Amino acid sequence: MPVVIRPARETDRGRLRELTVEGFVGVSIDHAIEEKLGPIAATDWAARKGRHLDDDMDVVDGVVLVADESGEAVGYVSLRFDREAQVGRIPNLAVWSSLRGQGIGRMLLEAALARFRDEGMAVARIETLEHNPIGRHLYPSVGFVEVARQVHYAIDVRGSR
Ligand SMILES: CC(C)(COP(=O)(O)OP(=O)(O)OC[C@H]1O[C@@H](n2cnc3c(N)ncnc32)[C@H](O)[C@@H]1OP(=O)(O)O)[C@@H](O)C(=O)NCCC(=O)NCCS
Repeated sequence: MPVVIRPARETDRGRLRELTVEGFVGVSIDHAIEEKLGPIAATDWAARKGRHLDDDMDVVDGVVLVADESGEAVGYVSLRFDREAQVGRIPNLAVWSSLRGQGIGRMLLEAALARFRDEGMAVARIETLEHNPIGRHLYPSVGFVEVARQVHYAIDVRGSR
């Protein structure tokens, strides 16, 4: 069945959370912190990452676009609009693992770029981890240029003074 891109609906929320947690194993900062420092509080990295999806769905100046195959969400991209700066941002992008490599991620990115243009953005931003080879291939291939690299640190402060 062909994949179509449409805005997310409230009824997608559970499925999009599932896509988020499945998609970001090994390629999220939340997971990396847990790998290095161990469990934090009562929640795991997946619960923390899943909350990002809620932020994406609930934000006022943003939208989530869904890749829909036969009525089921098989991927999504989230967008934020900074209208004053005219800078759009893509916080999250994920495609269900068994359907990757078929162009769905690229379709989502192209739909996101078109939406940024429609919303009057001048520039769009996206980030990827250095050890995410798909992101590092895909983003330049749709036209993003690398502008900076960042290193993320975390420290366990329980019991320290
Ligand atoms: C990133 C992601 C959304 C891409 O979705 P997708 O549907 O597989 O994307 P596409 O099929 O459109 O494109 C994937 C591209 O990566 C390439 N690719 C696949 N595996 C690769 C690898 N190991 N190294 C380099 N490139 C790779 C594919 O060949 C394809 O490029 P091409 O179109 O030039 O041939 C998907 O892999 C995903 O959900 N990953 C987990 C979550 C994630 O990493 N999100 C992004 C966080 S920054």
